Amino acid sequence: MNKLNLFLIYAALCGAAAPAAAGYAPDFDRGVDVRAAVRAAVEDAASAGGLLPPAPGRAEGPVWVTMEKSAAASLDGALFKTAPVAQSGRLAVYEFDPTELGRLADGMHRAMRRAPGFIAHDTLEEALEDLKAPPAPRARAYTLDQAARVKKLLPLVREESIVSSIAWLSSYKNRYYRGATGVEASKRLQREWAAYSEGRPDISVEAFKHAAFAQESVILTMRGTSEPDKVVVIGGHLDSIAGYGDNPAPGADDNASGVAVTNEVVKALVEGGYRPARTIKFIAFAAEEAGLRGSGEIAAAFQKQGVKVEGMLNLDMTNYKGSDRDIYFVSDNTSADQNAFLGKLIDSYLGYTWGSFDCGYGCSDHASFAKKGWPASTPFESTYEQCNPYIHKAVDTLAKMGGGAAHSVKFARLAVAYAVELAK
Ligand code: BES
Ligand code: ZN
Repeated sequence: MNKLNLFLIYAALCGAAAPAAAGYAPDFDRGVDVRAAVRAAVEDAASAGGLLPPAPGRAEGPVWVTMEKSAAASLDGALFKTAPVAQSGRLAVYEFDPTELGRLADGMHRAMRRAPGFIAHDTLEEALEDLKAPPAPRARAYTLDQAARVKKLLPLVREESIVSSIAWLSSYKNRYYRGATGVEASKRLQREWAAYSEGRPDISVEAFKHAAFAQESVILTMRGTSEPDKVVVIGGHLDSIAGYGDNPAPGADDNASGVAVTNEVVKALVEGGYRPARTIKFIAFAAEEAGLRGSGEIAAAFQKQGVKVEGMLNLDMTNYKGSDRDIYFVSDNTSADQNAFLGKLIDSYLGYTWGSFDCGYGCSDHASFAKKGWPASTPFESTYEQCNPYIHKAVDTLAKMGGGAAHSVKFARLAVAYAVELAK
């Protein structure tokens, strides 16, 4: 069914309903009820416009959203169709239609100077789990003793290759998690990453499929040589969004820049012939912008499989230098110990300036790992207030960041040092 047919059906319908004075009951197409055909045409046009169903024949079901009660209180009540399904002291759970999440995210940005974020769950059970306090991460000893390796690998981080990654990632109309181009971007990244496994039997690449939406997360595993069951996670979200739906959203900073940094770390480690003692999983997460859904599912799967996550480094927005200092760590819902370790890595190996800020309950994918009791951190491009003003818009482009990636280079170098000192 093409758009012309759709238009004709609408025209016919509107025509039939034209004399719709009070009490007039339209006689659809002389007794034939065309409403089913109209519905099918509307769905068809939506997919021609770039939206994809999660799986053939499967409609996307409702989601259960957790957010801070204080955030809910400051939002327009019209955003909520129902009262909270459950609450704890700090959090509340609401049932949402996933197509309403964009409005929710926009509402948060409008209502508050900080976006506290929200977390969307496929099931009510998972949402209720989130009401419990997260387990405290067990204490870990962080040491710095790999200077020679780190210094050998750092020069392999190159700005030009980060630029080219941001360029191809942001060349799609969007990387929307329910859209055709969001799927294409994921497939292209799978191919790019598969190339790193050539001649490296310890490297494998998989697509992590999500039950409720079409975009796949991508996982590159570099298997550890002596402690393969211990896992270090480095990654960032692959999806981009502007408004809600299939709108232009190049997402060059949010978050092609984080995926490009992740890719650069893989590239540098492979080029340097580096083999970690512990396993490193590099992940491009789907559907962060819809409530951390990709990382939420992956963290839950890791927990179920008994994966021992030693640390998680989340790269989300790395290329816009909006503040005086170089790197700012998200201080809430992250590990204070791991953040301090990252600060030491900077002081010892890199010499950048750094600070920290509070980001909010569900502001990015670190929260999915932190709530499982794993140490998670997000080094960020600026303070919250001074972050890139173009994100979530059609103007989040590489050009708006000056066409280079000098700021992202700092994050890639930090992530290389983190990988080497934690996966030893
Ligand atoms: N990269 C942003 C988070 C961000 C934006 C952190 C600006 C610091 C400054 C992320 O992709 C995002 O947009 N998060 C949403 C929450 C999400 C659950 C919709 C947010 O912060 O509104
Ligand atoms: Zn975002």
